[in-house]
Amino acid sequence: MSKAKPTVVLTDPFIPEVIERELKPRAQVLIARDRKHLEKLIAGADALITRFSDRVDEALLAKAPRLRAIGNFAVGFDNIDFKACARRGIRVTNTPDVLTRATAELTLALLLACARRLPEGEALCRRGRFGGWDPRMLLGLELKGRRAVIVGRGRIGGETARLFRGIGLKVEFITREDSAAAVRTKLRRAQVLSLHVPLSAATRHWLDARKLALLPRDAIVLNTTRGPVVDEQALIRALSAKPQSRRIFAAGLDVYEREPEIPAALRKLPNTVLLPHLGSATHEARTAMARLAVSGVLALLGGGRPSNEVRFPR
Ligand code: GLV
Repeated sequence: MSKAKPTVVLTDPFIPEVIERELKPRAQVLIARDRKHLEKLIAGADALITRFSDRVDEALLAKAPRLRAIGNFAVGFDNIDFKACARRGIRVTNTPDVLTRATAELTLALLLACARRLPEGEALCRRGRFGGWDPRMLLGLELKGRRAVIVGRGRIGGETARLFRGIGLKVEFITREDSAAAVRTKLRRAQVLSLHVPLSAATRHWLDARKLALLPRDAIVLNTTRGPVVDEQALIRALSAKPQSRRIFAAGLDVYEREPEIPAALRKLPNTVLLPHLGSATHEARTAMARLAVSGVLALLGGGRPSNEVRFPR
């Protein structure tokens, strides 16, 4: 008698070709339409594949007596209650490595867009307001020789550093090992500050009003990790300060504190470049993420030890 296929619940169709080809032959696949539907389907699930925006908490897990594996379709896993998973023996995978380059490239794109005021120029053209070349129009900053400080020396921070060096920036890192005094010193010279730490209790509001006030004049702030790493209201205040007291030239943001909400105050500011969480949004990265999420949960269900299994932070 052939063994019954495991049931894998998905919170999104993700990349349908990959699900069709690599998951459907090995599992019964059910796609939840919304949270309520997920709470119903999870009762019969052996595995779950989630977006980073799906909360996997005690309340959900309590409805999932059979659940053994979770594949988080993201490298960040702050949406998952690890203690609740560990108590139930549920193992988790994420999608590291395959999105490193895509996210670093997007960070570089944000930096260039901020420094050269690309959205302002683009909007002007689209509104039919380009009235001819003007030597004083939309002057930006040249990046060669400026100092970039990258917060977090993980895979994405490291790759971003390589790209930044490629365009002539001097790069240094802020890491967990730095003393508070060393952090302050580095912030004082951070002409570009790029955030690449995961969200945790320790990094929530890491970039707050006090740290923003240390940045040098004309600093550019970039966030392609998680919104709550920045105190968004403090950043809005810093970006809206009068030109004579303003330290920040621009901020390039791919993530927000209460995603998908973007505060109106932020949307009104001309010195921001705002993207809808596109860090890993390339065909290459998203296809590879889907394959890794599928192979990870199938390996966990088969009792294997996939290389993308998350070691729970203690
Ligand atoms: C997306 O934000 C991810 O963590 O992969």
